[in-house]
Amino acid sequence: MSREPKSENITWSDTEVTHEARLQRHGHRAAILWFTGLSGAGKSTLSQAVEKELFQRRCHTYILDGDNIRFGLNRDLGFSPDDRTENIRRIGEVAKLMMDAGVICLTAFISPYRTDRQGAREITPEGKFIEVYCKCSLEECERRDPKGLYKKARAGEISEFTGISAPYEEPENAEIVVETDKNSVEACARQIVESLKARGVLTMNGN
Ligand code: ADX
Repeated sequence: MSREPKSENITWSDTEVTHEARLQRHGHRAAILWFTGLSGAGKSTLSQAVEKELFQRRCHTYILDGDNIRFGLNRDLGFSPDDRTENIRRIGEVAKLMMDAGVICLTAFISPYRTDRQGAREITPEGKFIEVYCKCSLEECERRDPKGLYKKARAGEISEFTGISAPYEEPENAEIVVETDKNSVEACARQIVESLKARGVLTMNGN
């Protein structure tokens, strides 16, 4: 899809309250923590564990989660390749707005296509997009099957199911890789928070 707006005669206007001023007020840097991985890999669970930890450190955070967003903003989208691309495009834009508002925005979407994740990265200022690959074997996701969806997909009751009848393209250069089939939720969350510290995301308020 073209990146050019459909509308003509529109002009970008900057706000007087700058991004930097918002960061000073919040006391930490802003970022997008983009969780990606198979259904059942632990994106929602981990993003919640990380958010809890960041929130306790007085950070301004917000989670955009696949299933939840599909009840509202993206309720017109299904799971065809085009719909998934549009899903991720919209989420990339929303996450960018939140990041611009000074928030550490955590997104938890399968986001199976590399080019779609790359698109979200490209609209985000350099260094603010942190891809977190929740790496977990299909076998383990299927064993967990928290929503019973793999079972349905195997029985042919769900079409285009990621990992079974639809692709998942693994990240090649994710900033953070957590192996959720080898390490506990706590250990993976700690790894992510340590990485955020090392990247200077939490430093403005001495966290
Ligand atoms: S994405 O591929 O467009 O990024 P998203 O993260 O929004 O997907 O939604 C995935 C969630 O929708 C899964 O965790 C699962 O609960 C549910 N779901 C329902 N149908 C499918 C399907 N065909 N493929 C993958 N997930 C599905």
